[in-house]
Amino acid sequence: MTETSRKRRWVLGVESSCDETGVALFDAESGKVVAEALHSQIALHAPYGGVVPELASRDHIKYGLRLIDQVLHEAECAGQDVEAIAYTQGPGLAGALLVGAQLAASLAFAWDKPLIPVHHMEGHLLSPLLADPAPEFPFVALLVSGGHTQLMRVDGVGRYELLGDTIDDAAGEAFDKSAKLLGLAYPGGPLLAKLAESGNENAFAIPRPLLHSGDLNFSFAGLKTAVANVVRQVTGTALPGRGAVSLPQPVLPFDHPQRADLAASVQAAIVDCLVIKTLNALKKTGLTQVVVAGGVGANSRLREALTAEAAHAGAKVFYPQVALCTDNGAMIAHVGALRLAEATRDYAVNVRPRWALSELRPVNL
Ligand code: KG4
Ligand code: ZN
Repeated sequence: MTETSRKRRWVLGVESSCDETGVALFDAESGKVVAEALHSQIALHAPYGGVVPELASRDHIKYGLRLIDQVLHEAECAGQDVEAIAYTQGPGLAGALLVGAQLAASLAFAWDKPLIPVHHMEGHLLSPLLADPAPEFPFVALLVSGGHTQLMRVDGVGRYELLGDTIDDAAGEAFDKSAKLLGLAYPGGPLLAKLAESGNENAFAIPRPLLHSGDLNFSFAGLKTAVANVVRQVTGTALPGRGAVSLPQPVLPFDHPQRADLAASVQAAIVDCLVIKTLNALKKTGLTQVVVAGGVGANSRLREALTAEAAHAGAKVFYPQVALCTDNGAMIAHVGALRLAEATRDYAVNVRPRWALSELRPVNL
């Protein structure tokens, strides 16, 4: 086999749905990542306390091609040697998606390669398959990111049944909004988790909404109100009176002695909701494997609690490597490889900022 034909099954993946530009080359034959590169926009958005869509798009323009060059160079691969180009078609920020889609389509046209549009959440959902040991179908998946909190039954690639969903905020959003009230920078999830390490999680009574609702849904919007009220109480700021429309958002001072306690209490509340509903999903489906995917899956308190509770119930939990939990190009290239048969030479750029996982077509592997 020549060097070039050996590379013929390499899929280039491009991720640009939010605040990370991710690129990777994935070998569809060996099932391994060949090379990858990531540029995070955290520092760019931090001064604004959240993602500024226009800045995100411009930054993807700045780094997309650079990262592709870097990955191809590292893998000693010419663009003409890739098998296909996969890109995130949605869901995500429209402008950010357009940059990655346009870049992927332009290169695919120039190199005469087919394109594979990929669903970002399918990228997250299937990323535990890249770990060793990997789960086998069927399994339950807990998808926990900045925009999603879902429990799915996964019977194969593209065979997804929604078991439960958040009725308001996502778990990542609950982490980020609580972190803001604690005076932490964006994105607050990992910073809140770090602060929580030295706190007492029983210090404050934070609600666990819908815990006994009998279904597999989540609700996290009330958490930020509960945290805001604790911040007002411990700092002696006024609570909203009856009929008050809004008050300025309170922020816990940086040197407040109970910061870590509040962080730990919030984290425990979010983790309890995720763990209990996931165990209920295992019970309901009778399955014994669960995978956790998405940015919040990097949370070590969640990993410890879920692993322990699942073991109790006779189930096993699979996690992607921590680096694959948050957005990255490898998960997109991986799905591209699984959906290689769907690659087409349709270069019309068409992104899907809103896109349900249930709309995906099943793949027979
Ligand atoms: O999957 P992801 O990178 O992007 C989306 O597709 O949304 O998830 C980002 C979310 C953010 O809300 C971030 O605060 C949260 O994941 N996150 C964490 C941790 N690492 C990332 N939340 C809690 N603990 C962590 N260690
Ligand atoms: Zn994501």
